[in-house]
Amino acid sequence: MSKRKTDIITEDVRLDNDKIIELKNNNEQFFIINGRRKTYHILTYGCQMNEHDSEKISGMLTSIGYEETTDDKSADLVIFNTCLIRENAELRVFGKLGEVKGLKRKNPDMLVAVCGCMMQRQETREKVLKKFSFVDIIFGTNTIHELPMLIYNVEINKRKSVEIVDNTESIYENMPKQRKFKHKALVNITYGCNNFCTYCVVPYVRGREKSREPNEIIQEIKALSEDGCKEVTLLGQNVNSYGSNLEKKVTFAELLYEINKIEGIERIRFMTSHPKDLTDDLIKAIKECDKVCKHVHLPVQAGSNNILSRMNRKYTKEHYLNLVEKLKKAVPDIAITTDIIVGFPGETEEDFLETIDIVKKVQYDSAFTFLYSVREGTEAAKMENQVPDEVKHERFDKLLDVLYPIVLERNQQCIGKVFPVLVESAENDKLTGRTEHFRLVHFKGSNALIGEIVNVRITNVKTFHMEGEFVSLL
Ligand code: 5AD
Ligand code: SF4
Repeated sequence: MSKRKTDIITEDVRLDNDKIIELKNNNEQFFIINGRRKTYHILTYGCQMNEHDSEKISGMLTSIGYEETTDDKSADLVIFNTCLIRENAELRVFGKLGEVKGLKRKNPDMLVAVCGCMMQRQETREKVLKKFSFVDIIFGTNTIHELPMLIYNVEINKRKSVEIVDNTESIYENMPKQRKFKHKALVNITYGCNNFCTYCVVPYVRGREKSREPNEIIQEIKALSEDGCKEVTLLGQNVNSYGSNLEKKVTFAELLYEINKIEGIERIRFMTSHPKDLTDDLIKAIKECDKVCKHVHLPVQAGSNNILSRMNRKYTKEHYLNLVEKLKKAVPDIAITTDIIVGFPGETEEDFLETIDIVKKVQYDSAFTFLYSVREGTEAAKMENQVPDEVKHERFDKLLDVLYPIVLERNQQCIGKVFPVLVESAENDKLTGRTEHFRLVHFKGSNALIGEIVNVRITNVKTFHMEGEFVSLL
C-alpha cells in the first residue's frame, strides 16, 4: 500500500490474504454447523468520532462473517471502544470490564477486545493488560484495519493480540463501514488535533491534525447519497481549520459549498467548530448553503479571559461574543450550542461568574457541561490551585440553574411553529427526530416515516426535548 503525503492511506483495506480467507472460511463453517453466525457486541464510549470508528469495526467484522447482537452476555466477541477525555469515561470502562470478567469465566470461548483512545496511552494499556488479563485483543484508533488479523492470532495462533500504532502517523481510512442509520451518516474530514488546549488529552492520543482530500470526502458523500443518506455530519476535532495542511489548500467554507451541491443530501452538519478559526467566509457559507443546518456547536469552555488564556484557547470572551453576534446577524434563527468546563485549575469565583455571564449573553440553545477532570500528561494537570471537588460541584449546580431556564425558554419560542424534522427512530407509537437546529422532537406517527423529513408542529416543550404533531410530508 502506498502512502500519501498526508499519511492518510486511501486504498481499500485488503481482506483477501490467506490468513483472513482462512478466518472467513472458519466463520462460514461455524455458520453451517451452528445455524447462526458468530456474534459481536460493541460498547462505544465517548464522542461521535468513536461512534464512527465503531461503524468501521462493525464493517470489518461483517466482512469476515460476524453478525451484531445487542446482548453482551451471549456475544462471541465483545469490544470496548473506549474514551479517556474525562476520568468518568475511563471509570465506566473499567467497571464494565469487571462485569465482563464474570462472563468470560462462564464462557472462556468469548473473545474480549479493547480499543479506542484509552488504548493509545501506554499506561492505560498496561493497566488493562495487568488488571484484566482475560482481555484477548487490544488495538488503537489507527489499527482498526488490523482487527481481522488480531482475531486470527487469537483464534488460530492462540495468542493474545496487541496492535497499536503509537505515532499515529498513518491513518487507514478506507475500510468497509456498517452504518448505524441509513438516512444519516458520520463523515471524517480531519483526524487528530493541533490545538493542545491545556486540559485536553486528545492531541496526545489522536495525533496531529490531518485533513482528508476534498475529492475523497465528496466521493464518500456522493456514495452515501446514492445509498439513500439524507444527512451528513462532518467530523473533526476542529473542522474550521480543515484543509490547512493539504498540498492544495482548501478552506472549510469552500468544502461546504462543494458538499452543498451533492444531489440527494438534504442536511449538512459539522462538529466541532473552534472559535479561534471561525472565519467570516465560513459564516457566509453557513448562511448561503441551503443544506447547511443553521446550527453551530461552538465550545466556549469558559467565560474568563484569564482562564481561556490558561486553557490555551487562543480567543477572548469579547472575540467569542463578537462571533456570536456575527452569526446571529447573518442567520437570525441560528442555534448555538456549546461545551463548558467548570472548575479549571485556578478558577476563582470571579472567573466563574464570567462563565455565567457569557451563558446569559449568548442564550445558548443547549450546552454540554463538564466538571474539569485532571488528565495525566496534559499541561493543566501540572497546574497549581486545582479547584476542590465541592467547589466544582457547587459551581456546576449554579451553572445549570442559569443554563436550563435559558434552554427551556429557547425551546418555548418554538411552540406553535412548524419545523421540518428528520425522523430517526420509533418507540411504541412515538417517532423521534431532530429539527435543523438539532432539537429532539417526539411525535405520533407511522414507522414508515423513519428516514423521511416531515413537518411537525411543536405543541409542548421540556428542557431536553419537544413534543409535536405531524403536519405533512415535506
Ligand atoms: N475535563 C473536563 N472536560 C473536558 N473536555 C475535554 N477535556 C476535558 C477535561 N480534562 C470537554 C471539553 C471539550 C469536550 C469534548 O470535552 O469541553 O469540548
Ligand atoms: Fe481537545 Fe482543544 Fe483539540 Fe478540542 S480543540 S480536541 S478541546 S485540544
